[in-house]
Amino acid sequence: MKLLVTGGAGFIGSTYVRRRLAERPDDEIVVLDKLTYAGRRENLAAAPESQIELVEADIADREAVARAIDGCGAVVNFAAESHVDRSIAEPDAFIQTDVFGTFVLLEAARDAGIRHLQISTDEVYGSIEEGSFTESSPIEPSSPYSASKAGGDLLVGAFQRTYGADALIVRASNNYGPFQHPEKLIPLMVLNAMAGDRLPVYGDGMQVRNWLFTEDFASAIDVVLERGEAGEVYNVGGPEELPNIEVVRRILELTGRDESLIDHVTDRLGHDRRYSLSAERTEGLGWRAQVHFDEGIERTVAWYRDNRDWWEPIRSGEYREYYERQYGTKLGS
Ligand code: NAD
Ligand code: TYD
Repeated sequence: MKLLVTGGAGFIGSTYVRRRLAERPDDEIVVLDKLTYAGRRENLAAAPESQIELVEADIADREAVARAIDGCGAVVNFAAESHVDRSIAEPDAFIQTDVFGTFVLLEAARDAGIRHLQISTDEVYGSIEEGSFTESSPIEPSSPYSASKAGGDLLVGAFQRTYGADALIVRASNNYGPFQHPEKLIPLMVLNAMAGDRLPVYGDGMQVRNWLFTEDFASAIDVVLERGEAGEVYNVGGPEELPNIEVVRRILELTGRDESLIDHVTDRLGHDRRYSLSAERTEGLGWRAQVHFDEGIERTVAWYRDNRDWWEPIRSGEYREYYERQYGTKLGS
């Protein structure tokens, strides 16, 4: 099987590619990735060269997509602008990639007559005080990021119903693990704690997220790609829900720091209070999350401790300016 994996140089996409190629030595993968600030060639260095081709291109570029899709049996679309805080400050790229880019890929997969698996997020459902979202919960996104992902998801459904396209969606909860960009909560807190820097907790820190280890998500994606039905949505959640402040405390323990580093800073605009997801439908396909938070967070902290060469260049580049804009005036010294 030859797969087109878009956004495969990012955090989850590269985890998926490395895992799939390790498990299936006869597979080939074409990774089409724009290599934005979030996409890195190094993330794919461990994948065997004979099995992988990296095409640097935009998913919204019809010609590049048409060339890359040639001979592929399915598309798995991870490509997206993915960070809520950046979407609040500058939403344009989110609409362009997550909505228009998804549309271009859907057309190409439909025309090639192949399956399109859209990688989406529980954030499209909005916030839930009690209980858990199912696949039939209404779409009520809060941020420009989640609204643009919802736009992509709605196009997937429309392509399946209108053109009979073989398109389907997985919606995952918050992923964490090695190779995640330091803009996201867990790596940001791990790297700041290791450096003895302030830890910017938004508001009271009681916002709840459902944590899913990336390797677990990567295994769910193959199960849905193979056994999922066109036109359906499959939720993929992890085994634990935790308030952010608990996650930060766990990181402080693992890095040997104390709570004096915590800074409660101005809350995010439109901040969703709680995400909670029922993964029953995906579990019905034979998938189960294997990694509990205690184990996953230990593995994650150990990876960042042992992989300075990966994150040091990121922290010193574009990220520095982003960090200043995002946190500069909020944080105490
Ligand atoms: P990421 O930001 O680490 O990676 C995104 C990748 O997409 C990068 O390699 C980037 O270069 C590439 N990309 C961006 N715009 C592109 C474009 N126009 N054309 C081609 N490539 C482009 O994101 P991630 O955390 O790995 O998320 C991957 C997918 O999973 C996204 O669709 C995201 O919405 C979804 N998702 C993420 C999470 C999470 O917790 N991180 C949870 C649920 C769903
Ligand atoms: P994030 O990793 O941005 O993921 P998402 O917004 O997609 O859930 O944030 C996870 C949670 O952590 C979210 O409730 C916002 C919070 N958060 C902080 O408190 N401080 C931070 O510096 C960041 C980046 C996030």
